[in-house]
Amino acid sequence: MTQQTNPRLLLQVKQVSKRYQEGKIDTQVLKGVDLDVYAGEQLAIVGTSGSGKSTLLHIMGTLDEPTQGQVTLQGEDLYQLSPARQAKIRNHDLGFIYQFHHLLPEFTALENVAMPGLIQGRNKKAVEQEAKALLERVGLGHRLDHTPAEMSGGERQRTAIARALINQPKLVLADEPTGNLDAASGESVYELIRELGSQLGTAFVVVTHDPKLAARMDRQLQMKDGQLFGETEQDSASSQVSA
Ligand SMILES: Nc1ncnc2c1ncn2[C@@H]1O[C@H](COP(=O)(O)OP(=O)(O)O)[C@@H](O)[C@H]1O
Ligand SMILES: [Mg+2]
Repeated sequence: MTQQTNPRLLLQVKQVSKRYQEGKIDTQVLKGVDLDVYAGEQLAIVGTSGSGKSTLLHIMGTLDEPTQGQVTLQGEDLYQLSPARQAKIRNHDLGFIYQFHHLLPEFTALENVAMPGLIQGRNKKAVEQEAKALLERVGLGHRLDHTPAEMSGGERQRTAIARALINQPKLVLADEPTGNLDAASGESVYELIRELGSQLGTAFVVVTHDPKLAARMDRQLQMKDGQLFGETEQDSASSQVSA
């Protein structure tokens, strides 16, 4: 196969549709979504509640299957892979951040951040050292031994960011990571994503319903009627689409 693709193209969503069928109720959530995510870019997806943002993010992360269409990560067709290979990709190449931190309550911040590295089978000492360094980078060097219940909402989300980055993923998928935070903590989470993303070269796709936070990212797309609308940076520079 000789396919000419941009080497910076990381993840590609091609004509993805998703419908849920429960009895007589048939919900067509995604209707032929196309999306290219490039290495290191920071992309926001906005849209009203129920528009399909989480569904798309899950499909991008092999957490839910599309009804139709394809998702490729560096040329690999994710839905042609075995569940074991998908799990490996989730652990090695992808990071996830959720609206509710999903930290393990009985473990400390350090242990939570180290966990995906230990699951990968990496050396415990090395992983813990990295977890400590990451927690320091997100401003939590003084909270290493705190459990989630002993941290604020913003601190928990910053811990979740550190955990998403421990295996140096190529892409982090974040679903309303600030949906549960006050404005100031939300801003600082975005600042952190900007800073860490550009320092580490990690791509971020962040779903948010907050257009102000979305505006901080390199590129914004809107989920509407089961499709993504928006402009690439080049498009917006060269043509103005009337609203
Ligand atoms: N497992 C499911 N079964 C049936 N309908 C679902 C399921 N998951 C999501 N939906 C429906 O799909 C639509 C999009 O949901 P979602 O992707 O969570 O939206 P968003 O994240 O933008 O709020 C909603 O109307 C929701 O009710
Ligand atoms: Mg959602």
